Amino acid sequence: MADNYLEKKFEEMRSGKKKKNTAKKTHVSIDSLLLKNRSCRGYAPSYKVSDNELLNIIEANTKIPSARNQQVLRFKIATKLNRQTSGDVDFITNNIKLAGALPELRLPFKGTEPNAYIIVYSNVPESKWVYVDLGISAQSMLLKAVDLGLNGICIGAFNKEAVYEHFKVAKNLVPLMIIAIGKSIENIQLLPISERENHNYFRENGVHFVPKVQLSDLII
Ligand SMILES: Cc1cc2nc3c(=O)[nH]c(=O)nc-3n(C[C@H](O)[C@H](O)[C@H](O)COP(=O)(O)O)c2cc1C
Repeated sequence: MADNYLEKKFEEMRSGKKKKNTAKKTHVSIDSLLLKNRSCRGYAPSYKVSDNELLNIIEANTKIPSARNQQVLRFKIATKLNRQTSGDVDFITNNIKLAGALPELRLPFKGTEPNAYIIVYSNVPESKWVYVDLGISAQSMLLKAVDLGLNGICIGAFNKEAVYEHFKVAKNLVPLMIIAIGKSIENIQLLPISERENHNYFRENGVHFVPKVQLSDLII
């Protein structure tokens, strides 16, 4: 690759100018991103997520709403690809709980564990506004992951004390959530239900079904 190619690319990034892309950009609808954004609990071991991919995903946080615009969330990443954080990935895997509703399956199956995580911290004490920011942040990052051809899952069931102690980040930073990212190997289907039906997700013949209350029951 000619040296001046990289120089030009860097100059483009610095000036904010982008070379005109003559190829037609395919429109990706928010509905298709939302549909693909299923909580994934099994990942392709052959696909190793990079630090850069996680940073790209976390960058979504520079464009989202935040209560009083205080932007109190901070992020720590761990990937298997990075030798410095490879052990952290194993530590996190041992301290999370996946699919609490299907304990008999003991997910994730051996060999399909996530190989990349984002830990979301808050730099202020937990409050309802911190949690609102957390939800917006988590969903934005997951949608960004889908846009990159990846998948993920929010993990609230993790050993908070152990994670806090292990990473020893600044004292005021509280770990709120862990997000796993990777290439999904799961077959996940949405199942429309009425509000009176069972909301629990379940598995049948290798398919993970996620019941979702239909629109007519959501409107009051
Ligand atoms: C705040 C939050 C915390 C969650 N924590 C966990 C968790 O600890 N373990 C897990 O397996 N799934 C967790 N999930 C994923 C939910 O189980 C999942 O969203 C739900 O089953 C619906 O599936 P879907 O995301 O594919 O629509 C969490 C989701 C949210 C929004």
